[in-house]
Amino acid sequence: MDIIIITGGSKGIGKALVEKYAAENYKVYSLSRSIADLKNCTQIPIDLSNTIEMQRSFKTLLDNLNKIEISSITLINNAGRLGTIANLENIESDDISKSIQLNTTTPLILSSLFIKSFEDLSCKKQIITISSGAATKPYEGWSVYCTSKAAIDMMTKAIAAEQRELKNGLKCVAIYPGVVDTNMQTTIRSTNKKDFKNLQRFIDLKENNELYTPEFVANSIFKIDTENQLENGAVIDIRNF
Ligand SMILES: NC(=O)c1ccc[n+]([C@@H]2O[C@H](COP(=O)([O-])OP(=O)(O)OC[C@H]3O[C@@H](n4cnc5c(N)ncnc54)[C@H](OP(=O)(O)O)[C@@H]3O)[C@@H](O)[C@H]2O)c1
Repeated sequence: MDIIIITGGSKGIGKALVEKYAAENYKVYSLSRSIADLKNCTQIPIDLSNTIEMQRSFKTLLDNLNKIEISSITLINNAGRLGTIANLENIESDDISKSIQLNTTTPLILSSLFIKSFEDLSCKKQIITISSGAATKPYEGWSVYCTSKAAIDMMTKAIAAEQRELKNGLKCVAIYPGVVDTNMQTTIRSTNKKDFKNLQRFIDLKENNELYTPEFVANSIFKIDTENQLENGAVIDIRNF
């Protein structure tokens, strides 16, 4: 059985990933706060910014998988938030904390539990993290988001370095999905221009029909995954693929 666990499978890119992998006969699990109308997917309602609740639910899920039946297993760290768009001095501490928790701490904890749980398994094992071009480009107004994404790129490279040394090590890659037509983009376009200097660029991308659809991104990720094109530790941009 091919298993995939996707965080934030209820909306946007995550939802399209759930639908794509389910259509390809994977056993799909999605972790998010809300439950979506999704077929052939086990949805686990969970707030991934609550460390205790998240660890408990994720460990229960992993412990209940029958390891003998697994032919491949993948974790996709996809759930993410932009948080308040403004200069850092105008963002509340709690909002900074929430973004770092969901975008950085949660992928680190889930990845840690995932690696530990399957360390003796010799089948195909991988962690795919949905990062962002914001990891390398310092957008004004997105300091927290940029920081959180830069951190998970390094997480990807460091896990890959650690796992390379091991007998049953897994593969860890990060993917920048491009600019994608999801709620996150709706939020960006509704920002006040004084808080986000790049606003017009994102409005233009939408008006010129230049946003990727979540389905296009999910198909590309599936292709990259199944055609096994990436080195361990690779951090790639879909736009260059
Ligand atoms: N859209 C873009 O242009 C773009 C560009 C670059 C990178 N990305 C990255 O792509 C990923 C997906 O983004 P998207 O555009 O698809 O965003 P989205 O449409 O806003 O979806 C976000 C997903 O994350 C889940 N989520 C948010 N907070 C959560 C929490 N506390 N606990 C559990 N789940 C939570 C949401 O589910 P619930 O609300 O049901 O909890 C939802 O399924 C993110 O990591 C984002 O940074 C997006």
